[in-house]
Amino acid sequence: MASGASHVVNATSDDVVQKLSTSGASSKKYVLITGGNAGIGYAAAQLFLSKKADICQYDVTIVGRSLERLNEAKLKLETTITPDNSNVIHIGLCDISSKLSVDTFIKEFKLNKIDYLINNAGVWLTEYTTSPESHLEMTFATNHLGKNILISSC
Ligand SMILES: NC(=O)c1ccc[n+]([C@@H]2O[C@H](COP(=O)([O-])OP(=O)(O)OC[C@H]3O[C@@H](n4cnc5c(N)ncnc54)[C@H](OP(=O)(O)O)[C@@H]3O)[C@@H](O)[C@H]2O)c1
Repeated sequence: MASGASHVVNATSDDVVQKLSTSGASSKKYVLITGGNAGIGYAAAQLFLSKKADICQYDVTIVGRSLERLNEAKLKLETTITPDNSNVIHIGLCDISSKLSVDTFIKEFKLNKIDYLINNAGVWLTEYTTSPESHLEMTFATNHLGKNILISSC
C-alpha cells in the first residue's frame, strides 16, 4: 500500500460490526426465493436464515406450488435455525409457469419491497407438454415466464 494514503484506517472486523450496529445501519432485507422449498432454493434459504440478524435481519419468502411442501420446508428451516436467530420466514404459493398465478402473487405480496430476488425455480421436462393457460411449452413457461414477470415487478 502506498504510504501517505490518508483514507486508510486500521480496523478489525469486530470494529466494523460494532460500528454498523451502533450507526443505525441496522435494517431488514427482504428475500424472495422461487423454488425455496427444495434443492438449491432451500439451500439458499438456509444460508440467508443462518446469518446473524444483529446487523441486518433477513425476511425470507420461499415460493412453490404446494402449500404442504412449503409448510414442511418452513417448519424444517425453523427447527434447524439457531434459536437466537431473529430472521423470519414466510411461504408464498405461486406457480411461476402461470401468468395468472404470478400476477395474483405479486398483488398479494407487495413485491416492491424485495431486496434480493432469487429466481431459482425451474424444471427440465423430457415430455412435451403445454401450459393449459398460455399454451406455452411447460419447460419454457416455468423457466422463463414467471421469472421475467417477477423481475419486472421488483
Ligand atoms: N441441480 C442441478 O444439478 C441443476 C443443474 C442446472 C440447473 N439447475 C437449475 O437450478 C434450479 C434449482 O434446481 P434444483 O435441483 O434445486 O431443483 P429441484 O430440487 O427440482 O427444486 C425445484 C424447485 O422449484 C419449484 N418449482 C418447480 N416448478 C415450479 C413452478 N412452476 N412454480 C413454482 N415453483 C416451482 C419446486 O417446488 P414445487 O415442486 O413444490 O413447486 C422446487 O422447490 C432449477 O431452475 C434447475 O433447472 C439445477
